[in-house]
Amino acid sequence: MSALSGRRHEPAEQPQPQRLLLPMTALHLDAVATTEATAYAFPWSRGNFVDSLAAGHAAQVLCGPDGALLGYFVAMPGVDELHLLNITVAPDVQGHGHAVHMLDALHALCRQLQARQLWLEVRESNARARAIYLRHGFVHVGVRKGYYPAPRGKREDAAVMSLRVANAGPSAAAAEAPANAPRGGDGLD
Ligand SMILES: CC(C)(COP(=O)(O)OP(=O)(O)OC[C@H]1O[C@@H](n2cnc3c(N)ncnc32)[C@H](O)[C@@H]1OP(=O)(O)O)[C@@H](O)C(=O)NCCC(=O)NCCS
Repeated sequence: MSALSGRRHEPAEQPQPQRLLLPMTALHLDAVATTEATAYAFPWSRGNFVDSLAAGHAAQVLCGPDGALLGYFVAMPGVDELHLLNITVAPDVQGHGHAVHMLDALHALCRQLQARQLWLEVRESNARARAIYLRHGFVHVGVRKGYYPAPRGKREDAAVMSLRVANAGPSAAAAEAPANAPRGGDGLD
């Protein structure tokens, strides 16, 4: 069962090979940047990840039993909230519950940081990701017009989604967002 919503995901009941979430470090950045470039039409640059680590964002990599990179996430702590900036699963291992696993870890991280809300932006066209978020308890709270770059120099709107975190404490233990955090257009794709 997902810790996020209480909804049962039958595929997630299947035994999973060992996978491990580890703090993202500079040693991971070559693999992360390579995966990012294969997963998005408008990927983050390696420098965006460097900046995120330097800013102290919560960043983790999901590794398989052989150490191969399965996916990763980057989230920016704020007062009483956590803002998910990037969550990606390597294209060749999508559909095996890895995103669900990372969303559960993010939910646990929110509780640890006493963050009451987990925020994200997602492209309006990213139906798969939006469906996963909705199934895991996120609600659609708004639209950021023209937030993302799009083909032929156009822009695409972002859906803003939020997950309310139960059992988050009353005080904000999370750090203030550093000034050099990736902002508009650098958020989730
Ligand atoms: C969106 C994205 C993160 C989803 O990752 P994923 O690992 O494929 O997602 P999951 O496997 O956790 O969940 C997807 C599906 O697998 C199912 N699933 C869960 N556990 C499973 C398991 N053990 N075995 C098989 N399927 C499983 C889920 O129920 C879900 O069902 P669906 O196919 O009806 O959607 C991934 O497609 C991705 O990185 N896309 C490119 C980048 C991107 O769009 N990022 C999000 C930006 S907002």
